[in-house]
Amino acid sequence: MCGLIAYVGTVDAQPILLDALKRLRYRGYDSAGIATLSQGNIHLCRAPGKIEALEEKVALNPLLGTMGIGHTRWATHGLPTEANAHPHRTEHVAVVHNGIIENYDTLKKSLQKKGVVFTSETDTEVILHLFDASLSKGNSPQEAAAEVLPQLEGAYSIAVLFAQYPHTIIGARHGPPLAVGRGENGSYLGSDAFALGGFTDEIQYLEDGDWVEVMDRSVTFHDRDGLVVDRPIVHSHGVMGPVGKDGFRHYMLKEIYEQPSVVNRVLEAYVHPTQGTVNLPIEYEDLKDVKRCVILACGTSYYAGLVAKYWLETFANIPVEVDIASEARYRSSSLCKDCLCIFISQSGETADTLAALSLATQTGCQTLSVVNVAQSSLDRLSRMTLFTFAGPEIGVASTKAFMGQLAVLALFSLWLGRRKNHITPHIEKARLQGLIELPIHLESVLGQAQDFQTMASHLYEKRHMLFLGRNLMYPIAMEGALKVKELSYIHAEGYPAGELKHGPLALVDSHMPVVVFVPSTPLIEKVISNIQEVRARGGQIFLIGDENSLSKLEDVAVSEVKIPGVQEWVTPLLYVLPAQFLAYYMACLKGTDVDQPRNLAKSVTVE
Ligand code: G6P
Repeated sequence: MCGLIAYVGTVDAQPILLDALKRLRYRGYDSAGIATLSQGNIHLCRAPGKIEALEEKVALNPLLGTMGIGHTRWATHGLPTEANAHPHRTEHVAVVHNGIIENYDTLKKSLQKKGVVFTSETDTEVILHLFDASLSKGNSPQEAAAEVLPQLEGAYSIAVLFAQYPHTIIGARHGPPLAVGRGENGSYLGSDAFALGGFTDEIQYLEDGDWVEVMDRSVTFHDRDGLVVDRPIVHSHGVMGPVGKDGFRHYMLKEIYEQPSVVNRVLEAYVHPTQGTVNLPIEYEDLKDVKRCVILACGTSYYAGLVAKYWLETFANIPVEVDIASEARYRSSSLCKDCLCIFISQSGETADTLAALSLATQTGCQTLSVVNVAQSSLDRLSRMTLFTFAGPEIGVASTKAFMGQLAVLALFSLWLGRRKNHITPHIEKARLQGLIELPIHLESVLGQAQDFQTMASHLYEKRHMLFLGRNLMYPIAMEGALKVKELSYIHAEGYPAGELKHGPLALVDSHMPVVVFVPSTPLIEKVISNIQEVRARGGQIFLIGDENSLSKLEDVAVSEVKIPGVQEWVTPLLYVLPAQFLAYYMACLKGTDVDQPRNLAKSVTVE
């Protein structure tokens, strides 16, 4: 992943680069660095750890110059040390890179044979030395780009600064996105529109294979054959302004509390205000021949897909396969022309999900993206888009974006079911009512934060835990376990309650906490039997249920929290909130970094 920024203009580069890096830290926060150029000299400052460490360093020794490049890193090749931090530089060139150079080992060996000495363990350093070698033959930056880029294999976006060329930065894209912006004070290059927010809202994206010469007052795009091309200007409408914590201790907590508003925004956007029916900005005509849905996503978004499978199969009577994008992208046979491929992503930039979209497009499938970020690659490249209206999500562990995804997928399932005449208008309205009432129930669970804090106090010192649920609660059990892993570094597994006896029950003893999501549904008796199986092995039970379900489970749990009863089909949207709260409070009690957990990044732009 990693985030990169470059600036060429008329004002000091350092504050611009630092400002952009702060916006980009959701892409990685293992180390950060900037390089500027003044009077033919490249000035460099890098620091392991978060951007604040870099800021402290440059405050002591500011870097001069009105052009420069910057980088925030999520380590792939090499530990997160200063030596491995970007930019990498020689006397003549400095480079920042997002992605992976797959043939770096071959290139490195060949450069070493020619006497080049490497100072880092990164794959990026080969790009640096290839440019350096090309310049030393007398090539211009443009000629060097034309010579070096075809040698690189893998996925990359880069920005390159040249000591002898005080007005030119070269950018290139092969895979991960790269955006150009032009503002009053100069030109910018960044990993996405988010990086450029605050400087300009006029963005041009490089297409795959493009490279670009960025100068103070002009930008020239070249396609993969070197031909000069134009790329359309899109407006980001200032959606990328700075986001504060609004008095909350963490972004994650603030985002948890925003969830009722997210559902309301989705309802406002996609429910007809007077008819009370689902009204989506897509045409059924495009979908009427679809025989199968394939949902592709990663991480938390994948769990939203697992919930949607239940809804689509129930309401639209259509077979649904849900696949992890990094697996599906190498299994082309899973797709065919009469598939609707649904891509779910907060960022719209996840590399594996984008690769799966590309495969689906080549296969001739219909493509629909459910995304949070407008103008993201998924939004731009898929045929249809539905937005989740969660607003900028800063906490690395996804919360409100998941809520938005569920709300949109719920509406899409009802919409498709109605269009396919599998549900009646009466059922559509009755189910919709459950969703319309949901924000009130979410508010009520938000008011129970203290109860989840108490439950978390029993759990945060454990080394392992299990989450159980059946049917619609199974994906929520997995999402709960993922949240705990991400935030508390405690090993947790989410299991379908009925599957426990096929293996995981062997793990259960008096040290094993088992959190069970137990809403009142037709399967409640089955879940109660599964809970008894755990109790019989001495497992510690933690229950989240409603009045009716918990009344059947008296004196069973170490700790329990009663939440409102809601229509069964919307239980995933309600029960994920306790899962988020539990993971959040466990992390707070443990003292981990809630908003930026170790080893992770918000947007994963490498495969
Ligand atoms: C990263 C994030 C997760 C997210 C996943 C998929 O791993 O830390 O929170 O669920 O990527 O991201 P996407 O942007 O595609 O939803």
